[in-house]
Amino acid sequence: MKKYYGYKNNIEVNVFDTYEQLSEAAASFIAERMKANPNIILGLATGSSPVGMYDALTAKYEAGEIDFSAVRSFNLDEYYPLPPENDQSYRYFMNENLFDRVNIDKANTRVPNGMAKDVEAECADYDVAVAAAGGTDVQVLGIGGNGHIGFNEPAEAFTAGTHKVTLTENTIKANARFFASEADVPRYAVTMGMGCIMSAKSIVLVANGKAKAQAIADMLTGDVDPLCPASILQLHPEVHVFIDKEAASLLG
Ligand code: GLP
Repeated sequence: MKKYYGYKNNIEVNVFDTYEQLSEAAASFIAERMKANPNIILGLATGSSPVGMYDALTAKYEAGEIDFSAVRSFNLDEYYPLPPENDQSYRYFMNENLFDRVNIDKANTRVPNGMAKDVEAECADYDVAVAAAGGTDVQVLGIGGNGHIGFNEPAEAFTAGTHKVTLTENTIKANARFFASEADVPRYAVTMGMGCIMSAKSIVLVANGKAKAQAIADMLTGDVDPLCPASILQLHPEVHVFIDKEAASLLG
């Protein structure tokens, strides 16, 4: 494993040979933070990238290493409109990949409501709830091939608050693999904005594969630019990136 340090050394980049190794390392990082703070507030992400990390966290829970009983969590995003029972909803994903496998109290877990009648009120309430909790202690992120984090798509400007977004064609195509057809992918989502994400005390970003290499390079070495939403992380004080060789292949 080699390490590469990004902008002003606030971004620690850990490069591994395999997806299993990066997943284990990211899980170990979170496990250590959980041991130090049993009341930790986790910001959680979906997508295929963190699945291995959730498997590794589950293994640590089963081994008696970590305890989720006092953990609280806020998820980054949810499709809109999509009910929580839908097997492509991010609530369903979280239950399957983590919540139903560990001793977390689901009442302490929050995912944006993909069926909210008043989306604006749901977004405002989400920001209030995260702020009232004092922000997340560790925010987990994946990254889209276009540099999106959560569902903050490339845009003219960064958006601070939780908000409803129209998904880009790029993201709809990328996520179509999880649905019966591309037409079934919801066209909207509710996502934490950059304010919530950046208020996290620390950030863990996981990515693997060649399809993420350009986004990783832009995030670390490009300008801070809303056209690569993840580039805003250059301004965060503590970011830990766990990637494989392929995702790191465009770094110098
Ligand atoms: C999705 C999610 C993101 C995720 C990204 C990458 O659209 N909203 O939170 O990080 O795309 O997904 P994957 O890890 O499956 O490549």
